[in-house]
Amino acid sequence: DKGGYPHFMLKEINEQGAVLRNTMGDRIKGEAVDFSKELGWSQESFAKIKKIHIVACGTSYYASLVAERLMEGMLPIDIRVEIASEYRQRSIHLGEDVLAIFVSQSGETADTLAAERLAKSKGALCLAITNGLGSSLAREVDHVLLLKAGPEIGVAATKTFTGQLAVLYLLGIYMAKLSGALSSEEEGRLVKGLLKLPYQIEEILERQEMLKPIAEKYASSRDFLYLGRGRSFPLAHEGALKLKEISYIHAEAFAAGELKHGPIAMLESDIPVVIIAPQDSLYEKLFSNVVEVRARKSPVIAIATQGDSNMKDVANDVFYIPSTDHELYPFLAVVPLQIFAYYIARARGCDIDRPRNLAKSVTVE
Ligand code: F6R
Repeated sequence: DKGGYPHFMLKEINEQGAVLRNTMGDRIKGEAVDFSKELGWSQESFAKIKKIHIVACGTSYYASLVAERLMEGMLPIDIRVEIASEYRQRSIHLGEDVLAIFVSQSGETADTLAAERLAKSKGALCLAITNGLGSSLAREVDHVLLLKAGPEIGVAATKTFTGQLAVLYLLGIYMAKLSGALSSEEEGRLVKGLLKLPYQIEEILERQEMLKPIAEKYASSRDFLYLGRGRSFPLAHEGALKLKEISYIHAEAFAAGELKHGPIAMLESDIPVVIIAPQDSLYEKLFSNVVEVRARKSPVIAIATQGDSNMKDVANDVFYIPSTDHELYPFLAVVPLQIFAYYIARARGCDIDRPRNLAKSVTVE
């Protein structure tokens, strides 16, 4: 049941406020994160963890990269994020001092499962973050954290990205507390920000149709670039992946700082560039990237923070997201990227919920 929407993907994009409420639900008590029932780790048991590996594919991998940028700022533990198919093939140190987190919407992705079996065989503590209750992954790990996103029918992952981010952020806060690295004031600030997100997503969704004419203007482009820095770098990848999957347009993502190291040579007037430039400590640098790209005549579509009036003077099109703590804006910035890809695919007459060559869960290697 598409609930009155023309596609499951659009329905699922519009469910993201509710998904966040469900997923955070009873994992937040007052202004504190509480995983005591689901994980119940003690300071002593957590103290033996010296390394954290987060392993995933596709969209789940990009959610993991966003979360890495939160966790590394809070936790005195080395964190690495790997693509499951690569993790399996390499000689990465694995042992009892490793917490290995496997992020998979379906819990059935062959490479992620194989990576989990490898980590488990080497004695790592294995945790799954999945929407697949009863999935193979959920059955095999030491601990499971469910997304509570409800079934996702559209092949392109949308609401489960948001759900994964929520669980990863809560887990990051929980682990930072266990390692004594997060004050209760900091935790309270983050939790208050997290609790506001569902309303802020719904405010974005009220304006979703503003993206339709922008998408239609660029729908016949053959190539797109996506640029971000810091937390918006993995979001650039996620935005490009959404566009590739459902519209079949070639889209590439770069860390904006890499622009001068090669990609800038490609820029031309018919290559639109999506730049995710929220107002944080990296804003000035991203703003200069917008100016550089415009100087090469490429149109810029910017995702910026409400109140940033300078952006509309340089970018060709701007979509504004509400202001939030700098750690939290990925939850908001991903929504217009999903909707933009959706409207482009619709303008091109693509089969949005069942894109060619793709399966919802990739159970072969
Ligand atoms: C993107 C997409 C894929 C999946 C990837 C991992 O929209 O759907 O890239 O994210 O196949 O799938 P899971 O999360 O089920 O392991």
